[in-house]
Amino acid sequence: MQQSEQEQQKEQVIAQNEIPDLIINPYEVVNNSKKQIDYDKLIQSFGCQRIEQTHLDRIQALTQKPVHHYLRRGIFFSHRDLNQVLDAYEAGKGFYLYTGRGPSGESMHVGHLMPFIFTKYLQEAFDVPVVIELSDDEKFFHKSETTLEEYQRYGYENAKDIIACGFDVNKTFIFLSSQYAGHMYHNICKFQHAITYSQLRGIFGLNESDNCGKVAYPAVQAAPSLSSSFKHIFGKDEVMCLVPQGIDQDPYFRMTRDVCYKLKVPKTGCIHSQFLPGLHGFGTKMGTTDPTSAIFLTDTAKEIEEKIKKHALSGGGMTKKEHQEKGADLTVDVPYHYLRFFLEDDARLEEIRVQYGKGVMMTSEVKKELINVITKIVTEHQQRRALVTDEIVQKFMELRPLSNYPPKKNN
Ligand code: TRP
Repeated sequence: MQQSEQEQQKEQVIAQNEIPDLIINPYEVVNNSKKQIDYDKLIQSFGCQRIEQTHLDRIQALTQKPVHHYLRRGIFFSHRDLNQVLDAYEAGKGFYLYTGRGPSGESMHVGHLMPFIFTKYLQEAFDVPVVIELSDDEKFFHKSETTLEEYQRYGYENAKDIIACGFDVNKTFIFLSSQYAGHMYHNICKFQHAITYSQLRGIFGLNESDNCGKVAYPAVQAAPSLSSSFKHIFGKDEVMCLVPQGIDQDPYFRMTRDVCYKLKVPKTGCIHSQFLPGLHGFGTKMGTTDPTSAIFLTDTAKEIEEKIKKHALSGGGMTKKEHQEKGADLTVDVPYHYLRFFLEDDARLEEIRVQYGKGVMMTSEVKKELINVITKIVTEHQQRRALVTDEIVQKFMELRPLSNYPPKKNN
């Protein structure tokens, strides 16, 4: 207990990270530098661990599959207790994956898909259950732009995009937190009991004039990390949880892990991703207020082409001559950075890095390649989403056992 309080103190202090030009918390990500966020410093500042080659080797050995390019390229770059989760898996106890989305609106952009694409890969590779929280309550408390009913509706709509990533209905449970909370209220109570208001204030920057929902909500995001929140899946078993998430969500799980320690249950494992920057450059955001800032899942091929051609910030030379002499500045170039996220072929990516970096390849060629890659991803996504009916969403939300729990014995 003593040690945990010390840890908690430390974590509160580092919740406001000390990196200049950078604000990262669940409610705000602002990068005021023109460059890529210094993720090494962020790891230090948050007190998490880097994902090393040894983790990739271990995941590959355990799953007998090549690791996802998000892992190969360090896009999922940081973790907490990943080894403990892999130990549980190796010992045949299995684990489950928990991730989520705050349904802030009807439309999602390609950046929103990342945690789901990655979770889907992990689900397939490890064959473990997945639970997905749609935190309509969180958006209602924090954004308050519309009614709770409307945020619920966004939740259902977003569920269709999530399902379209290819989750297996027999292995995946999706829930709206405003509707499911009763089933895990016992765990929500335990979290609320273990956390003081002053700790919450330290972690999330809340104050007296914030509505009570903001104070109550963190326990709702924490509770799904305990397998006893899903009795219809795990019964009475204590199963380890791994949470794929954007690194901005880490404050929630720092808090969660601290309470796990107090409750004497295994600490939740975390695996963190970097952010996809807005099309206008590092330090810019993707959002609905400026449709040219992002590729949305509803964009047509023509819109995608135009956005990338006109709006994706280039690190190439101002003139052809300058470009050929100096090459492209890949540290600010958006099209190349997007290819790191979306082009799976390592050899081709490396070729582009070298040729574009030297100024042999022109920005227009790199953009063309990106347009092809993203258009394919988005149009295929749209085709799959069109097949997701309300009945299918209901099936994912039904309380039922999942087919891959308990795990089959490893051999
Ligand atoms: N807070 C997240 C958001 O605003 C949504 C969320 C709920 C989540 N539960 C989660 C994200 C678990 C990652 C893991 O988008």
